[in-house]
Amino acid sequence: MDIRGALQEAMARLRVAEVASHTLAAELLLMHALHCERAWLYGHPEHPLSPEVSALYFHLVAQRAAGTPVQYLTGKQEFWGLEFAVGPGVLIPRPETEHVMEVALERLGPAHAGSKFRHGEPAAALRLADVGTGSGCLAIALARELPEARVWATDISPAALEFARRNAARHDVTDRIEFLESDLLTAFLPGPTAASVAPFDMIVSNPPYIARDAAHQLPRDVREYEPAAALYGGKEGTELYAALIAQSAQLLTPGGLLVLELGYGAAERVMDMLGFAWTRVAVTDDLAGIPRVLAAERT
Ligand SMILES: C[S@@+](CC[C@H](N)C(=O)[O-])C[C@H]1O[C@@H](n2cnc3c(N)ncnc32)[C@H](O)[C@@H]1O
Repeated sequence: MDIRGALQEAMARLRVAEVASHTLAAELLLMHALHCERAWLYGHPEHPLSPEVSALYFHLVAQRAAGTPVQYLTGKQEFWGLEFAVGPGVLIPRPETEHVMEVALERLGPAHAGSKFRHGEPAAALRLADVGTGSGCLAIALARELPEARVWATDISPAALEFARRNAARHDVTDRIEFLESDLLTAFLPGPTAASVAPFDMIVSNPPYIARDAAHQLPRDVREYEPAAALYGGKEGTELYAALIAQSAQLLTPGGLLVLELGYGAAERVMDMLGFAWTRVAVTDDLAGIPRVLAAERT
């Protein structure tokens, strides 16, 4: 069988299985099986597949048809122009989370290179925290964008932290990111076991924010394959924000930035949790017009 025939057959199988974006899935899996780019695939439609590649390809197609996300089969997902290793146990980074990057970098303004400025001169490295780091996508993309900054990234999931550490090594930022297993920012709160790195200049987070009761509305491949700890934020979905905001108020320097990804319909409820400790509060919409990122500064 050649490339054209294999693609046609895979697309047909995935369409019958009602896989969303079945054309793209068929292409990505064949690119993975052949270790090639899309341009090569379409430039060589008559290239014959070896029996081994063909067997691997249709095995992957069968797994996708059964529900496994493409990214868990190829082991990768792009975020902010960087490739991240993903697999069962870690959330697949989503495009809307790039708005957290945009808002964070825009708000940092002159501190863009990752230093605090005093009298127009870089004075000290920025100290950043990423809460619920998952694959490490936000922590690592920030470390790459802000070459002077230091980053502390937490997660409650050891499996996610394993992926995040691998990704930090892949992107050459291990010397500037520390990964900690912690419930939100608890590891940094004053106490006998506190990691004494606070105060932070910026805290970012894409916390789990889906309501438990809304689980049935999720696509099956999300609900059944991505980790529950990365999806559900409690019965209402917004439960983790209150603790995150309270801890951030304690751990941010005056003028420090909090940047949070918001779940669908959560903007007002999360803004109500802010209270008086915050100023310059703003919500940014995503490309679909959904309020997606909340930014606020510690007074
Ligand atoms: C929505 S995912 C975001 C992952 C990654 N930051 C991203 O944007 O792709 C939420 C992450 O928070 C972690 N998490 C859930 N509850 C947590 C908690 N109480 N403390 C720290 N991390 C938590 C999950 O394990 C998961 O990795």
